[in-house]
Amino acid sequence: MCGIIGYIGLKKATPILINGLLRLEYRGYDSAGLSTIEPGGLSIMKDKGRVKNLYKLDGIDDLVGTIGIAHTRWATHGKPSKENSHPHLDNSNHFAVVHNGIIENYNELKDFLIDNGYTFYSQTDTEVIPNLIHYYYSKDSKNDSQRVLRAVQSACKSLKGSYAIQIISTYLPDNIIVAKKDSPLVIGKGTEENYISSDIPAILSFTNEFYFLDDFEIALIERNNIEFFDLNLSKIDKKVKNIDWNAGSADKNGYEDFMLKEIFEQPISVRETVGSRLTENENCCFDELNFNKEFLLNINKIYIVACGTAMHAGLSGKNAIEKLCKIPVTVDIASEFRYRDPIVDKNTLCIFISQSGETADTIAALKLSKSKNATTLAISNVVGSSITREADYSLYTHAGPEIAVASTKAYTSQVVLLELLAIYFAEILESYSFKELNNIKNEILALPSKIEATLKCSDDIKNFAKQIYQEKDVFFLGRGIDYNTALEGSLKLKEISYIHSEAYAAGELKHGPIALIENGITVVSVITDEQLVEKTISNIQEVITRGAHTLVITNKNLPTNNIDKVILIPDTYTLLSPILSIIPLQLLAYYISKEKGLDVDKPRNLAKSVTVE
Ligand code: AGP
Ligand code: GLU
Repeated sequence: MCGIIGYIGLKKATPILINGLLRLEYRGYDSAGLSTIEPGGLSIMKDKGRVKNLYKLDGIDDLVGTIGIAHTRWATHGKPSKENSHPHLDNSNHFAVVHNGIIENYNELKDFLIDNGYTFYSQTDTEVIPNLIHYYYSKDSKNDSQRVLRAVQSACKSLKGSYAIQIISTYLPDNIIVAKKDSPLVIGKGTEENYISSDIPAILSFTNEFYFLDDFEIALIERNNIEFFDLNLSKIDKKVKNIDWNAGSADKNGYEDFMLKEIFEQPISVRETVGSRLTENENCCFDELNFNKEFLLNINKIYIVACGTAMHAGLSGKNAIEKLCKIPVTVDIASEFRYRDPIVDKNTLCIFISQSGETADTIAALKLSKSKNATTLAISNVVGSSITREADYSLYTHAGPEIAVASTKAYTSQVVLLELLAIYFAEILESYSFKELNNIKNEILALPSKIEATLKCSDDIKNFAKQIYQEKDVFFLGRGIDYNTALEGSLKLKEISYIHSEAYAAGELKHGPIALIENGITVVSVITDEQLVEKTISNIQEVITRGAHTLVITNKNLPTNNIDKVILIPDTYTLLSPILSIIPLQLLAYYISKEKGLDVDKPRNLAKSVTVE
């Protein structure tokens, strides 16, 4: 969950490290720290709180080292405090380590190290790593150039759990060593310098060339050379990948917050995701897939597995695939799926959706499906991310880097990609009227301009947010495909405004939740599903009768009597409507959070990429 950053080159490392941490802060932000190789040994600068606190630390401006590692923490073991902040040193102060992940056997390793005379100064699981490296280093009688590497190798072999680690050592003053298992790590290749990061956007302004470290790999990084090894220290040949995101896309570009910028980028992100996959009068085309009719006829069940917002996108994927292809689809939460012993076999297609491609539960669910011989397809926004390396097939949403913790443009890109996938399957299977499919395709091509039009509701939503930002509970209602939007709208609100909210399938209301409706409570409803308009309106009237304050997002001309505010959005195919109807709800969550004076991009307790279970 945390962010790690490293620099090795000719420049002073500290400003680069702090800058990188600021860009990574959305990954974790309860404490931060860095270590550089200085003429007198390893420096350690760390503190509780936000990255900017590092600027205030005594001596930070005096650091001259050109090699360093840094970390912004999202605590798992030990409360946020200076002592628990990373980097952690070994007892001899020769090894400094930053770590993202959880060492599951740290108690056992700690006991072993204590028995061998080591002392611990933090409550973290991480602190075993530098001491373990020191232990193996001191036991190694061969004093050659690979001694530190061997010590790191032995330490990694002892670790259980997840880790992306960076190590610097006074014994190896021209290198950074990195290693990983189940936590993300990329290396950015520069000229006479190299960068290490948890993810791409933080170092995008320095390079577009990246190496992706795989699990159980170690890299020995010098200023102008990088060597890759497996856990037996056999050399690996790794190819550099070019990432075509531009550096500006990881900046705020004049917007107050990343989230607002990303909401307003949706016409572009949807257009880019559709890209050349859809051209007028042509069949939908996925160069990455080679599915034919025989293969798809053999698929008798599809699982869509993901977490949070990505799972909500999956719900709309289910609507599209079931309607257009007549294949049953189950949408599952990755953390449930992985422990459910799901009924998956060689005739199952499992689709995994993850913006980051690094979500631990989604990766585990993917590995489980592979072990049961299913065909696996990953949908991610990050080229080279773990799920794309693990899956049989990968498709990318081309949303560009998403920095705000609350996912917006990635979500709409995922939904449009799933719609395209459903059309692609339907065209191969000939399972739906070609004329109708063409109409849907034309509507998809019109989406970017319809998103532009939808975004015009921003001021109206801002005014509504001013009326309700002090609420304690907000309800979201929808039927059919609109229920998916209600779920996602409710999640957005919870995440960044800390207001309790629930989403209900409007028809369920009478079966219990209506007991919660009382005078003045806010109920937000979404009405776009052609066949269910009348039914949902009846449900809204029921809450109005009980005193609810109501906001309705719709693309229909409704009788507006008694509804407090109606936001009219452009009409489109019901299957595509979640892409438009979510936009007012994203804006609602955003403006409520702003009214409350909260940090929109970095909500409390959350991190952008959930790389631990
Ligand atoms: C979205 O606003 C949330 N921050 C969260 O639900 C997120 O969608 C979830 O953690 C999955 O992330 P992923 O897409 O990177 O796998
Ligand atoms: N488990 C480590 C800790 O609590 C690392 C957490 C992180 O990934 O930020 O210190």
